[in-house]
Amino acid sequence: MAQYGIHGSGASDVVTSVETAIREGRLAAGAPLPTVRALARGLGLSPTTIAAAYRALRVRGLVHAQGRRGTRISPRPPLPIRPLAPAPAHLRDLSRGNPDPALVPSLRPALARLARHPGLYGEPANRPELLALAGRQLTREGLPRGVLTVVGGALDGIERVLQAHLRPGDRVALEDPGYVAVFDLVAALGLVAEPVAIDDGGPRPEDLTRALRAGVEAFVITPRAQNPTGASVDASRARQLRAVLARQPGVLVIEDDHAGPVAGAPAFSLCHGRERWALVRSVSKSLGPDLRLAILAGDPTTVARVEGRQSVGTGWVSHLLQDLVTTLWSDPATDALLRRAAETYATRRGALVRALATHGIAAHAGSGLNVWIPVPEEATVVAALAEAGWAVRAGERYRLRSGPAVRVTAAALAPRDAERVAAALARSLCPERRRASA
Ligand SMILES: Cc1ncc(COP(=O)(O)O)c(C=O)c1O
Repeated sequence: MAQYGIHGSGASDVVTSVETAIREGRLAAGAPLPTVRALARGLGLSPTTIAAAYRALRVRGLVHAQGRRGTRISPRPPLPIRPLAPAPAHLRDLSRGNPDPALVPSLRPALARLARHPGLYGEPANRPELLALAGRQLTREGLPRGVLTVVGGALDGIERVLQAHLRPGDRVALEDPGYVAVFDLVAALGLVAEPVAIDDGGPRPEDLTRALRAGVEAFVITPRAQNPTGASVDASRARQLRAVLARQPGVLVIEDDHAGPVAGAPAFSLCHGRERWALVRSVSKSLGPDLRLAILAGDPTTVARVEGRQSVGTGWVSHLLQDLVTTLWSDPATDALLRRAAETYATRRGALVRALATHGIAAHAGSGLNVWIPVPEEATVVAALAEAGWAVRAGERYRLRSGPAVRVTAAALAPRDAERVAAALARSLCPERRRASA
């Protein structure tokens, strides 16, 4: 305790000292905290006081309880700690999940067309032209429209919708494997993740049934371009999942359509006719993540809560960004580029999957930007690929109960290079071949 600097004469002191130790790097992600009894004894406080401090830390997502493994620091506590180190400069970075910058529309012509007068307080929060374009897109794709609003990206939308309906301690069904930032967000809100197993067609209906029986309040699903596995829900799986969800009409369903038109798979929704739902369509993968903008469609109550909360906080998503997206969406050249982007991503994913298959390695990449490759041991493969010049992501943080794998972002990987990545990965899985090539 002294070594970590945990001290104090009451619950709030203990909370502050743990928080400071996390911020200053003395308590790292995953580090165990003493048991309630041990810390109470050490500080001369009552176990009730320490239990209250741990509860407060849990609700803020700084720590999590792990059954018999005790209480540990969260994998990514919501505090400004050192960011993930960038891949060393000599490595080709296939770890970030970014779109290919060459397949994102140039902003220069659209910026030149923006109004030059300064935006002021008092304008309506959302640009009607933007909402009209978004509404037409959703209708054209057969998706539910509900009420539309504008949020600061997919994660911002998911956070606002979760906060509109859930309270700390509530359970949320999440895809496993799934998107690490959603895991971290759910923890930071003091919510409890309930894993739902997925296959290439998305969440498995029988496992969603089990998770719903466990008493979840919400279900977050990525219907296409699932990160990290590339899974996408087709019409028949969507029907099955809708039937499962129909038995729990009160459960909030949030659809994370973060890749939209560049996903490489059509969109199917589980939300038609539900009481509480939201579909978040971000422009991050199609128009660029720095635009920080997503359209949120939902039922009237959910959207009213999101807009109400936004109105007493940030107020609105910058009209400059809204106008920029409106301009880009109105330009037929954008449509053409995004179609080409979706096709190119499919070609690049396919090239890596085929190259891996020639080495007898199975991989998942039905849609999106990433290829998910199950491996026996993540760290060995990540290290071997780094030695061969490629930075890829260990799957560990993307998994709750599912097995080990690595994630390779193939968005900007030329087919020729895909063969080199596949060969390096194959060598890392087969020690004899590694020795032979050494
Ligand atoms: C599944 C998923 N959801 C959301 C996001 C982030 O979207 P945004 O930038 O709109 O917050 C990502 C980014 O990679 C993602 O993979």
